[in-house]
Amino acid sequence: MEYVKLGESDLKVSAIGLGLWQVGTNSWGWGKTYSREESISAIHRALDLGLNLFDTAEIYGMGLSEKVLGEALRDRRDEAIISDKVWPTHAWAGGVINAAKKSLQRIGTRYIDLYQIHWPNPIIPLGETMRGMQELHDAGLIHYVGVSNFGLNRVRRARAQLTSAKLVSNQVAYNLIQNGPSEKLLPHFRKENLSIIAYSPLAQGLLSGKYTPGIPPKTGIRRFNPLFSPTNMRRVEGLIEVLREISLARGMTVSQVALNWLIRDERVVAIPGAKTAEQVDEVAGAAGWRLTDSELLMIEEALAILKIEYLKSIPRMLLRALFRI
Ligand SMILES: NC(=O)c1ccc[n+]([C@@H]2O[C@H](COP(=O)([O-])OP(=O)(O)OC[C@H]3O[C@@H](n4cnc5c(N)ncnc54)[C@H](OP(=O)(O)O)[C@@H]3O)[C@@H](O)[C@H]2O)c1
Repeated sequence: MEYVKLGESDLKVSAIGLGLWQVGTNSWGWGKTYSREESISAIHRALDLGLNLFDTAEIYGMGLSEKVLGEALRDRRDEAIISDKVWPTHAWAGGVINAAKKSLQRIGTRYIDLYQIHWPNPIIPLGETMRGMQELHDAGLIHYVGVSNFGLNRVRRARAQLTSAKLVSNQVAYNLIQNGPSEKLLPHFRKENLSIIAYSPLAQGLLSGKYTPGIPPKTGIRRFNPLFSPTNMRRVEGLIEVLREISLARGMTVSQVALNWLIRDERVVAIPGAKTAEQVDEVAGAAGWRLTDSELLMIEEALAILKIEYLKSIPRMLLRALFRI
């Protein structure tokens, strides 16, 4: 496994971590296609393979994700770096502190390595939220501060509110298709010594190459994702073909190529939501090698002609989700 430093921290995180939204979330198929045992063995397999970054949130499964992570780490806490998140409705200072204390209890740990604001709250001033983060840091309950779904200016403003606590990362949707952070964040983060934690790095499974308009995913959550409209799934086929060509030549899988593209920059770590030990095995294989310049060019050419339809897809996806059509 490859390790990188998260921003200006002394956290050496694996370039591929494990996302735990899937743990405890019915609409991802939890309780039907996988459950507690599979999740715990996925976490253990991740640890065995050297993945050390585990991303959870108070909102995932209404705390169940944190509980299952805590159970899995009972005898292995020292091997893990826990990245947790506070929901924006708790973004006043006292709310942040209370939420963190409850998360610590659910996980069964004395500290959270990285505590992040899940989404910006435009009503509560950032200074108020960061005051809570600073207090948690001073009490030793969290080691580093992160944000999530923040634009560049908001990241900078949040960072400026802290004194001794360090803001080290922004967690955003980032994958080959949703690749805005490549230009909007990455060049600035390189200069400012911040990291990106890439969520949905497989575009919720679309970049695994296993879904087509004829074989859409079964789980509910993706009914709301415009990338899974039949039109967009057809449009992505050209990119998947290129990833497949590269993966076959390299003896890799399509998912591994998609993840490797993200982590080729040491400012980026990816947290795929692998549900099972087998999926963990696959994502772990995305690290430890590099795409060549000519492979990167092939991907760039495929991306240059990829046009995703968001505006038309969203209303249709909502109707499909609501009426299950
Ligand atoms: N900060 C935020 O606002 C935010 C938002 C979203 C997610 N996140 C975090 O990011 C993590 C990952 O994002 P995500 O869940 O949206 O999308 P993702 O990691 O791009 O996609 C995960 C899904 O892809 C499918 N998949 C196919 N092959 C896989 C493989 N080899 N390994 C892993 N998954 C494979 C799995 O579902 P199937 O097998 O059913 O296809 C899996 O559940 C979450 O768990 C969460 O921790 C954060």
